[in-house]
Amino acid sequence: MTFKTLDDLTDIAGKRVLVRVDLNVPVKDGKVTDTTRIERVAPTIRELSEKGAKVILLAHFGRPKGEKVADMSLGLIAPAVEDILGSRVHVAADCIGEAAAAAIAALGNGDILLLENTRFHKGEEKNTPEFTAALAENGDIYVNDAFSAAHRAHASTEGLAHHLPAYAGRTMQAELEALEKGLGNPKRPVVAIVGGAKVSTKIDLLQNLVKKVDALVIGGGMANTFLAANGVDVGKSLCEHDLAETARAIQAAAKEAGCAIVLPVDGVVAREFKANAENTVVDIAAIPSDAIVLDVGPASIAAVNDWVAKAETLVWNGPLGAFEIAPFDTATVAVAKFAADETRAGKLVSVAGGGDTVSALNHAGVADDFTYISTAGGAFLEWMEGKPLPGVDILHQAK
Ligand code: 3PG
Repeated sequence: MTFKTLDDLTDIAGKRVLVRVDLNVPVKDGKVTDTTRIERVAPTIRELSEKGAKVILLAHFGRPKGEKVADMSLGLIAPAVEDILGSRVHVAADCIGEAAAAAIAALGNGDILLLENTRFHKGEEKNTPEFTAALAENGDIYVNDAFSAAHRAHASTEGLAHHLPAYAGRTMQAELEALEKGLGNPKRPVVAIVGGAKVSTKIDLLQNLVKKVDALVIGGGMANTFLAANGVDVGKSLCEHDLAETARAIQAAAKEAGCAIVLPVDGVVAREFKANAENTVVDIAAIPSDAIVLDVGPASIAAVNDWVAKAETLVWNGPLGAFEIAPFDTATVAVAKFAADETRAGKLVSVAGGGDTVSALNHAGVADDFTYISTAGGAFLEWMEGKPLPGVDILHQAK
C-alpha cells in the first residue's frame, strides 16, 4: 500500500494547501491542558510554510453536531497553536463561504490560517457533496495529517481527497509506517497487551488480535471477566459476568489460531478503590470474596515481561491495573519500563495507542522510548480491530 507524502510535493510556493489536522485537544478553563496533538502536527505545518505554501488548517473540535457552539470554537485553540509553532496563526470565522475566502485572499506565501470548526456545518459529518465542494474551493492541494480522525468518513477527512490531489502529512506518514510495523507486516513473535476496564468495549479488537498475534496479554478490569469465565472467583472486582460466553469464545478462537492467552496468575487486592488503600498480593485462585483486584501481581508481571522479552513486536492498548491510583500503577509501570528498555536496546518494535495508554506510558516516564505512541483514540482501536479507516484508504487510492 502506498500513499503520497510531502516528499512528492514540490513547487508549492503560493499554492493554497488545505491541511486536515486534529486539534481536538483537552481544554480546561480556556487553556489547552495537553498539547501533544498540536506538537504532532507542527512539523507538517512548518514544512509547508517554509516551502512558501499558504497553509490553511482544517480541524474539528468537540461534537457540536452541525451547530455553532461558542465553546467549541477553534479560536480557543489558536493561541496554543501559535505558541507551539512560534509563528502567527490567522483565524477565520468560518471554514467555507465569504469569511474563509476573504481570510485566504489576505494570506501571503508561508502564512498560516486556521479555519473555524468544520463540525459547525452538518455537511462535515454527512460528507455531503455540497459541503465538500465548498471546502475544496479554498485549496489547490489537500494534506491529511489527522490519523486520529481517519476512522471518520467526513468531508474534511475523506471527501476532500476526491476533489483535490491528496497527500499524507508527516504525522500521518509516521503513524502509518509505525502501524504497518505493528500489525500490518510485523516481525514475529508479536505480543499484544490489552487492558482497560471492560471487555464489552473491546470485543472486536480481541477477536481480531487473536488471529494476528502470537500472544495476547489481557490485563486490567477486563482480565476479571476472562478469569470469571474460566471459573475463578474474582470477589467484588469489576467483572462483566454476562460476557462469560464471549470470553470463552475468544479463548477458543485463540487456541484455534495458535495464539497464547496470558491471564494474570496473581493479583493485588484491596477493599476499596482508593489511592494507597491497604492491599495484599494473592494467588488468582485465592481472591477473598470481599476484595477487589486493582492490579496484577509480581508473578504476572514476570510472566508478561517474559513474553515481552521473547517478542520482536509489541502492540499495547490499555493499562494492566488501576494505574491512576498508587500503588496500583505498579504492573503497568514495570512492564512499560521493561518494554522501553527492550526498545532502546534495539530488541523490540513497540507501538502503543489509545487514550489511557498514552497517559499510562507518560506516567511511567517512557513515552519517548517506545518506537511509536499514537495519539489516536477511536482510530487506533479501529485499526487494532482490523477495520478499514476511510481517511487512510482514500490516501492509498489518491492519484
Ligand atoms: C479523537 O479525539 O479521538 C478524534 O479527534 C476524533 O474525535 P471524534 O471521536 O469526536 O470523531
